[in-house]
Amino acid sequence: MTRKVTKAVFPVAGLGTRFLPATKSIPKEILTLVDRPLIQYAIDEARAAGITEFIFVTARGKSALEDYFDAAPWLETSLAEAGKTELLETLKNTTMPSGAIAYIRQHQALGLGHAVWCARRLIGDEPFAVILPDDVIAAEVPCLQQMVEAHAETGGNMVAAMEVPADRISAYGVLDVGAEKGRLLRTRGMVEKPGADQAPSRYAVIGRYILTPQILSNLGTMKTGAGGEIQLTDAIAEEIRVSGNVYGYLFDGERFDCGSKGGFLKATIAFALQRDDLRDELMDFLSQITQGVRIAAE
Ligand code: G1P
Repeated sequence: MTRKVTKAVFPVAGLGTRFLPATKSIPKEILTLVDRPLIQYAIDEARAAGITEFIFVTARGKSALEDYFDAAPWLETSLAEAGKTELLETLKNTTMPSGAIAYIRQHQALGLGHAVWCARRLIGDEPFAVILPDDVIAAEVPCLQQMVEAHAETGGNMVAAMEVPADRISAYGVLDVGAEKGRLLRTRGMVEKPGADQAPSRYAVIGRYILTPQILSNLGTMKTGAGGEIQLTDAIAEEIRVSGNVYGYLFDGERFDCGSKGGFLKATIAFALQRDDLRDELMDFLSQITQGVRIAAE
């Protein structure tokens, strides 16, 4: 039987330079889509998939993340005294039971593979998930939950996959695929950010992974790869070579690249349009500005 996945790693050490100057003083994972920080989406998705231990790989300047997941007794008391029960409710998902969340520092920015490797002692000898909070996925069944369900059947390693246009493929880890069975892709290889003419397919890896501890051993011996960084992709590719035990999973859902400004804005609009309290106002506004009507400032 496949062992249950209960631990997830959240690599959050990146500098977020694409969102400067905002990220000069706040971690990009705290930037909000409507009113929830990016990291909250990632944590909620992990919880829905049965994750109970959360491992953050952080860096200097990221302590706002630790505060975010801490209890805030003064805030809770003042909301309770003011009878603001709905707001109190929204705070519930932001706290963690003591011991459920751990923070490890990545002391040098050596790449995603290195960040995941930094968590090896906390993961030990069991399968684990990795969630990249930049990739926000809107889905009826949260993406990692879909994968955990599929993984219960397959075991091994699994990466989220999505077809992307040929002119975007070199921004991703790319799968070389064999047989396709429903949403499952058998893999023959995986390459990080290949040139457009070298990409083995148009199946890009998206930031959700379920990995075996063997990947951590592989990472321990990895040399630098694409972009001069230690790549998670290379450690997974090694596993494909040695055991062939890696699946791509074509998830059902819409992925937003919140590591880019365009993707972040699209996600903001998409999530706002799902909200009963914002939809009508935003729709009006969007239809007016797209028709070139000038909006007077309120
Ligand atoms: C990372 C991974 C890449 C993956 C991508 C998904 O790249 O290295 O394999 O396709 O996330 O978002 P990054 O976007 O951090 O450069």
